[in-house]
Amino acid sequence: MFNLQDKRILITGGSSGIGRQIAIHAAENGAIVTILGRDKKRLSDVFTELAGKGHNFFALNLTNEQEVTTFIKSQNTFDGVVFNAGIVEYSPVKFLTNEKIKTVFDINFNSTVILSQQLLKNKLIEKKGSLVFISSIASVIGIGGTALYAASKAALNAYTKVIATETAAQGIRANSISPGIVITPMTEQSINVSTDRSMDDKEKEYPLGYGKPEDVSALAVYLLSNASKWMTGSNLIIDGGLTLT
Ligand SMILES: NC(=O)c1ccc[n+]([C@@H]2O[C@H](COP(=O)([O-])OP(=O)(O)OC[C@H]3O[C@@H](n4cnc5c(N)ncnc54)[C@H](OP(=O)(O)O)[C@@H]3O)[C@@H](O)[C@H]2O)c1
Repeated sequence: MFNLQDKRILITGGSSGIGRQIAIHAAENGAIVTILGRDKKRLSDVFTELAGKGHNFFALNLTNEQEVTTFIKSQNTFDGVVFNAGIVEYSPVKFLTNEKIKTVFDINFNSTVILSQQLLKNKLIEKKGSLVFISSIASVIGIGGTALYAASKAALNAYTKVIATETAAQGIRANSISPGIVITPMTEQSINVSTDRSMDDKEKEYPLGYGKPEDVSALAVYLLSNASKWMTGSNLIIDGGLTLT
């Protein structure tokens, strides 16, 4: 049921953290994977870790519409896409600027809209394809200092529901995943941000502790597979119990 045999899967931000693990896990389940990111060396390193044959990688900046258009023109259809690339930004509201708004929304939201729009317009998503948007638990709870990150991910949740409505007639499904803290290079960067509480201290709020990339990749594989064929428009929270109570 969870088999991805010969399904062509595109993963943005496949060079690191959660995206890297989704690529590895999808390939282990038989998928033919294409990964995107800016850093060619990191993409190439992940590429060599992928089981099976036919995989590909492209270095591009997803916030550059021209680079995205060039990539789209070179592609065949996909059975699934994981919109995972993103950045985190910590600023109390009183320190926000237009530049920060643009930087965070450009990659976390705008680039996802443009890539999905181009894929659909160019008929590059197969009927019964699956679109998976990596959101965040920050989109549904108010974590101080995360205003832009949280808002960009909440926008993604809303976008997922609308795209699910618009593509259902073609059997295409769209769902978002909202993880709590998962240990990746992104969170290691957060550890260095000075806060009044240590990461160890914050982990006590997680009944099952912080997550690992494979916790999220297992859910992504489920959403990409036929096992989830009746699921669309959902936002799946996976947070080790952070929002349990
Ligand atoms: N880790 C967590 O605790 C956590 C929790 C909830 C949600 N998430 C979400 O999960 C996703 C992955 O996070 P992660 O923790 O795995 O982060 P990560 O290790 O920092 O990976 C981010 C990925 O996005 C790519 N990327 C960033 N900007 C890009 C751009 N302009 N163009 C193309 N690629 C770009 C990066 O590649 P290059 O740098 O090479 O471009 C990298 O592959 C993000 O959307 C994040 O918001 C993470």
